[in-house]
Amino acid sequence: MSISALLNARYGCADHPLAHLSVHELQVFENQTFEALLSHRSIRAFDARAVPEHTVEMMVAAAQSASTSSNFQTWSVVSVTDPERKARLNAVSGQQKQIDTCPLFLVWIADLARLRSLGEQRQVPHGSLDYLEAFLVANIDATLAAQNAAVAAEAAGLGVVYIGGIRNSADVVAKELGLPSSSFAAFGMCVGYPDAQKPASIKPRLPMSAVLHKEQYNPEAFDQATRDYNVIMNRFYTEQKMNTPGEWDLHTLSRLSGEKALRGREKLKTRVQDLGFELK
Ligand SMILES: Cc1cc2nc3c(=O)[nH]c(=O)nc-3n(C[C@H](O)[C@H](O)[C@H](O)COP(=O)(O)O)c2cc1C
Repeated sequence: MSISALLNARYGCADHPLAHLSVHELQVFENQTFEALLSHRSIRAFDARAVPEHTVEMMVAAAQSASTSSNFQTWSVVSVTDPERKARLNAVSGQQKQIDTCPLFLVWIADLARLRSLGEQRQVPHGSLDYLEAFLVANIDATLAAQNAAVAAEAAGLGVVYIGGIRNSADVVAKELGLPSSSFAAFGMCVGYPDAQKPASIKPRLPMSAVLHKEQYNPEAFDQATRDYNVIMNRFYTEQKMNTPGEWDLHTLSRLSGEKALRGREKLKTRVQDLGFELK
């Protein structure tokens, strides 16, 4: 697909700020990196092929190439291929078919355990690790690493889908993976070769006006963007023959309705504290 066509797919219409670039202006963006980034779609159906170990290691090399706060490198990843372990993780992650069927399940860890043990071994103060800031840094590091790995996987012909469901029972997941104190499974990632019989489509995003602010945040841009996006997503759901979950805004709000919608994550703060993060 050309970059222009990918942009139209990403915004679900041909009326977006980049639609009017000249051939000359577009030229610099016509390369494999942009093509890969704009082509992303979550993959939830995989064929039977395993992911070669060297591919996993290339993904981790890409992950380790991401920027990391102060070079702290406060993340780890646990690679799970054992079907029984995946099933046990799935049992507490919302029973999502893709977790059972993916050949590789990566669990991305916000990991302060390494630095804490270093502080203890070296017998130097390391109290900053007890603050919310350190927990946030570790989660940011894990996220940047994971997204680099996702892009790497897609460049190798694989597909991925992130799994937030593993935070439903952070305590059970920590036990299953043998995580040390001061580490937290932030999210999972199903990885595998996409099932060619069940192709996934590029899902349109909000109009750029809702997310790109110039100099100062403009909350008013969101109203029109929401109205436009509801129309775009209705069309997308129809094209995909998806059971229309209602307008995008109402569907999204229904997933944010309160405690029940959190499916266990309403207890996250105390669970994270129990895992060794003080969150001062
Ligand atoms: C942190 C995170 C957690 C997610 N958790 C799940 C999940 O538990 N199950 C799932 O099917 N998709 C999950 N997703 C995938 C999103 O639903 C998906 O990225 C979004 O709908 C946009 O679709 P796209 O990735 O195909 O563009 C998650 C995505 C992220 C970034």
